[in-house]
Amino acid sequence: MEKADWKSSLQVAFEHAVAYLDGLPDRPVPPTASLAELRASLGVPLPDGPQPADEVVAALAAAAEPGVIASGAGRFFGFVIGGSTPAALAADWLTSVWDQNAGLYVIGPSASVAEEVAARWAIELLGLPPQTSAGFVTGAQMANFTALAVAVREVLRRAGWDVDADGLWGAPKVRVLVGGERHGTIDRALRFLGMGTGSIVPVEADGEGRMVVPALRAALAAEDGPAIVCAQVGNVNTGAIDPVGELSEVAHAAGAWVHVDGAFGMWAAASPRLRHLTAGLETADSWAVDAHKWLNVPYDSSMVFCADPAAHRAAMGARASYLMNAEHGERDAVDYTPEHSRRARGFAVYAALRALGRDGVADLVDRNCAMARRFASRLSDGGAEILNDVVLNQVLVRFRDDDHTREVLKRVQADGTCWMSATTWHGKAAIRISVSNWSTDENDVDRSVAAMLACAAM
Ligand SMILES: Cc1ncc(COP(=O)(O)O)c(C=O)c1O
Repeated sequence: MEKADWKSSLQVAFEHAVAYLDGLPDRPVPPTASLAELRASLGVPLPDGPQPADEVVAALAAAAEPGVIASGAGRFFGFVIGGSTPAALAADWLTSVWDQNAGLYVIGPSASVAEEVAARWAIELLGLPPQTSAGFVTGAQMANFTALAVAVREVLRRAGWDVDADGLWGAPKVRVLVGGERHGTIDRALRFLGMGTGSIVPVEADGEGRMVVPALRAALAAEDGPAIVCAQVGNVNTGAIDPVGELSEVAHAAGAWVHVDGAFGMWAAASPRLRHLTAGLETADSWAVDAHKWLNVPYDSSMVFCADPAAHRAAMGARASYLMNAEHGERDAVDYTPEHSRRARGFAVYAALRALGRDGVADLVDRNCAMARRFASRLSDGGAEILNDVVLNQVLVRFRDDDHTREVLKRVQADGTCWMSATTWHGKAAIRISVSNWSTDENDVDRSVAAMLACAAM
């Protein structure tokens, strides 16, 4: 067999990568190619035989790049999407180079230990209980799914029901109490788990989307039986944070499991300035937090935490005669997520946290929040209406009425200075700005505000 030429294909990728990343501050944020153009440039016939790797990589880069949205740029404010820090990105490359199957210690010892350490650092930063266990999953969707699988199993076990053996048919009813403004991934996770959305008991949320404590108390008191309460740290529209400590106290008094969906907002707990907003976070039973959002780790990267490692492992663990499961306290990652074989996601989280350090994470969160406040005050000075209390990194902006707001967003997206997405809040159309990129600075905000106001004045 001929020796593989790794260097030439990686060299092509490296040169494209550096040119792309260096160009991020200046290139238009939206893609430039249309759907038809992308289908034409990428949709070549499948070659009959092997092609040189470097040529394939060069052709892919040339064809794909016009259809790439610059979501890693400082003027990308759509959805809740972080960029990549240099250390996290480089570690993610090495993750592919090493190509470890992170399911078991025996086939990836460094992957296992890097996860162990990265999880410990994240647990410390977020102020979670020291014994907390962690799983590295694709996104908050899977983190919520995993935590709810653990929760359902555990509350049913306490009610004398073995869901592993007997499933949900004939099981005691489990109620899932959630805020009226929860994220849709909670409902989706319950569908996947066979619980159905019928298990959901919606609890009143206030004007900013926070679950109302007396409403939760009343909802819990309305019925007996196993229950799970899902709190939210960071509403996807407003950034509002549920009063987790108070909700948790009320829920625990009723014997419920408390899960926190903290997809992006939980990183506020790593900031000494903002930590007060998450008071009592450590009293919950499970948590979901993304690394690919506010920690600026490349996709896909998220963590699920559980205060009861035994319950976590009991719900997720995998055993088979050929698996060579750990026997001496090593971490087998397969015991903490629904996945079996998977990418060694812990390396990039490890690098992100080590490169930023405790102060760097706090600074990233604080700077993004300061930029969100700057957006709000400058847009408001320019005549826009701000629909939310800007407590975190999310800003809801409205111009005059629904039609005008939608038209302004269309013009902003076409202008290319920045990119942001649409939403509806309390029945009103709004532009949703999420400041989640480590590189966003005052200049990015001011240029974006100017572009938005110019589009509104057209
Ligand atoms: C509160 C909340 N939960 C869950 C999610 C889903 O996260 P992911 O897309 O990483 O699965 C999001 C995404 O924005 C979110 O804001």
